[in-house]
Order: sequence, then structure tokens, then C-alpha cells
Amino acid sequence: MDKLLISGGKPLQGRVRLSGAKNAALAVICASVLSAERVSLENVPDISDVQAMFEIIRHLGAEVLWLSDSAVQIDPPSCLKADPPCHLVKKLRASNLLLGPLLSRFGYARVSLPGGCNIGVRPMDLHFKGLAGMGAEISIESGFAVGRSPARLKGARIYLDFPSVGATENLMMAACLAVGQTILENVAKEPEVVDLANFLNCLGAKVRGAGTDVIKIDGVPQLGGRVRYPVIPDRIEAGTFMLAAAATRGSLVLENIIPTHIEPICAKLREAGVEVLENGDSVTVNAQGPMRPLDIKTLPYPGFPTDMQSQIMAMLTLVEGTSVIVENIFENRFQVVGELKRMGARIKVEGRMAVVEGVAELHGAEVGATDLRAGAALVIAGLMARGQTGIANAHFIDRGYHRLEDKLRALGVQIARSH
Ligand code: EPZ
Repeated sequence: MDKLLISGGKPLQGRVRLSGAKNAALAVICASVLSAERVSLENVPDISDVQAMFEIIRHLGAEVLWLSDSAVQIDPPSCLKADPPCHLVKKLRASNLLLGPLLSRFGYARVSLPGGCNIGVRPMDLHFKGLAGMGAEISIESGFAVGRSPARLKGARIYLDFPSVGATENLMMAACLAVGQTILENVAKEPEVVDLANFLNCLGAKVRGAGTDVIKIDGVPQLGGRVRYPVIPDRIEAGTFMLAAAATRGSLVLENIIPTHIEPICAKLREAGVEVLENGDSVTVNAQGPMRPLDIKTLPYPGFPTDMQSQIMAMLTLVEGTSVIVENIFENRFQVVGELKRMGARIKVEGRMAVVEGVAELHGAEVGATDLRAGAALVIAGLMARGQTGIANAHFIDRGYHRLEDKLRALGVQIARSH
């Protein structure tokens, strides 16, 4: 398995251009199977999760062609050729976002129940309840979620017990080709949900209210229109680089960013005493002075994102004083704590709360990534630490960060990969 080797102790300096958003691209790729015509996507990050998703839809009968390192042409299937391959679907939870589109367009869908991953059980009860409310028959058959709808799905009024991103996206996509109007309440408001709604509307869908608590979708008979669509920039990649700059007391300009998408992160960095300047589609982070400890609570957007929790924990390990982090979204997202403690961090976990006592320095060590964002947190810790850090299971990091080594090297970091 690949390992990243990082020599730490130097401030990040320079400019970095962000890639397209993983969690927007994955949803938009699933939505593309709703279209009766070719779609072209731009600003698509060439990361392993996106490559896996393309493999899955190719298996369904789609044709996928990379036109450049970030532009992709998709010819969706006119009929369902096969079920998604189990080995690929188990690996990629986001493939569960095919359930709604396949059901809605073809009346049948069979996706492997995504195995629980390291950050939590990841149930799909809200997805199933909503689809059943639209007339689908959902059953669990030897590890697969199977959806059938003999007739076209029907519009329904659905209240989500929790503003689940995936459930919001699956139900929004399913409703586009349903008969009548669907009203989704207590939905997720993440920028990736809004990006998906914009893409669907470019295909001729009638989706209103994305980004608010209520989304209304009026079903249409068919979607298409040979659309060319740019995916939004990745706010989590942006946040990861911003925290890395702050953690190493550096100075960084980030380009290709939508500042409103990273407001929760900017607010916390400013509260810590870091200078954050917004200027159109770029943001500058200057962290020369001392930093203050923080209280962090992860919440659905626009609250502080759970996908930034491990990374800010790494940054806070060297901030004098006591910081408190509460993880409200996933039940098991403190796995990185053990690895950070091996580098000298002082962290105590009580249930959903982690208490971080700032220490004077971290020392490089051999550590291992347990999931994507834990891996990103260990990269930040490696940049902060004195000496060399080896991060095993780097494939977790490759799932969500495009050309991470190149981007860090351009900022003065000594980083290498050993196979
Ligand atoms: C999306 O996952 C993201 N993934 C995750 O990013 C992100 O952490 C998460 O949203 C929260 O923002 C993609 O977009 C591909 P949820 P998703 O449904 O849709 C519970 C990353 O690192 N829940 O909003 O799976 C669930 O157990 C990844 O890029 C139910 O109880 O997240 C969790 O506790 C990690 N029943 C909470 O809701 C359901 O039917 C949030 O899950 C669905 C979810």
C-alpha cells in the first residue's frame, strides 16, 4: 500500500488552485444517467472516487470519455445493461446515489448496501422511506438494496427526519421524472446539493428551493439537452489547505474558490486569530501570530462541516490552551486521535467530544490513515511536526485530493510517495 513521506516544520508559502468538488461531481455523475442525451462535465477532479463512479456507470452501459484532465463526456445508457458491479459499489458509498435516478428513469435499481465505513454505520433508511413514499418497492436482498417501480414514480410530500445530504440528493433526482410534484422538507442545504439541483435544471428538470429547507420538484417526462456543466470547486479541499497554512504559520493564496461555501471555516480561522482575506474567487490566509484555542461543533451546512473536523483537530494540537470538538454528524469520526497522539498530541475523547490540549511541538512518526479526512489530518500534522512522518494507506487520501503531492511541493513542502 502507498505511503506518503513528509518532512515537516516549514510554513506553507505560495498559491494553490483548487480542483472541482468530489461530493458535487459524484452526485452530478449519478444524475447524468437521468439524461437521454450526452452531457459534458467540466472541473471534474480526477480522483479515485470519481474514477470508481465512472467505472460503475460504464458497467450500466454509459460511455465515459475524459476530454482533458478535468473535462468529461458522458453518453448515458438508453436502457439498463447490468447491475453495478458489487466489488466497486461496496468500495464507494456514494454509488448509493444511483438508486433514485435508476429507479426514476428505468423503474429498477440494484445497488449494493454500502458496507459500514470507518466513520459510521451509514444507514439508508431516509432514502428508502422517501422512495417508498413515491411508490417504489424497496427490498434488501442479500446485501443489495433493490428498488422496483412498475409504474412511474409519483410525486409525494416527504419530511426528512435528518437533513441527510445523500437522501436529499437521491430523492431530488428520483422526483425529476416522477408524475406530479414532490415536496422535500427538512432537506440538506450543502453547496453540493445546490450544484446538483442546478445541473438537473440544466437538463430540463424543474427543481426549486435548493439551498433552503424545502425543495419542490415538478416531474417532467424526459431530461436531456446536450448540457455542458462546470462542477463547483471543492470547499473541503479549500478548507484543508487553509488549515494547513494556518497550522504551519504560513501564507497561502487559494484560487478557484467560492468564498460563501467556506464561510464556516473562515469564521473559525479568524476566531483563532488567523487573517483571512476574500477577493472574488480567491482567498488569502496569513497566520504569522499566535493562535487561540477553539470550540468546534460539527453541524449540517451552513454549520462547521464534519468533513473538516479531523483536519481542524490536527491544527489545534499546537494551539496553546484547551480546544473542544463535538462531532454531531457521525458516530465514529475520531479515529485519527490515536495517530495524532503517536505524534505527541494531547487529546482526550469522551463519546462525541474530543478535548485537545495544545502542546509545544509534534514529532514525526509512522502513522496510518483510517479514512479520507483522517488521512488529510495526518498530512497537516506531518507538515507541522519536527522530522519526517510516514503516512500509510495513502489510497484513502487519493479518494478525495487531486494531485495533493504536486500542490504541496509547489508550496515548498518536501513530500514523496513510496509504493
Ligand atoms: C455526504 O455523505 C458526503 N459524501 C460526506 O462526505 C459528508 O460527510 C456527509 O454528506 C455529511 O456532510 C458525499 O457527498 C459523497 P448524510 P452522506 O446522509 O450523504 C445519517 C467525505 O469525506 N443518515 O448527510 O452519506 C448518517 O448515518 C464524505 O467527503 C441516516 O441516519 O451523509 C449520518 O450520521 C464523508 N439515515 C448523518 O445522517 C440515512 O438514510 C449524515 O449523513 C442517511 C443518513
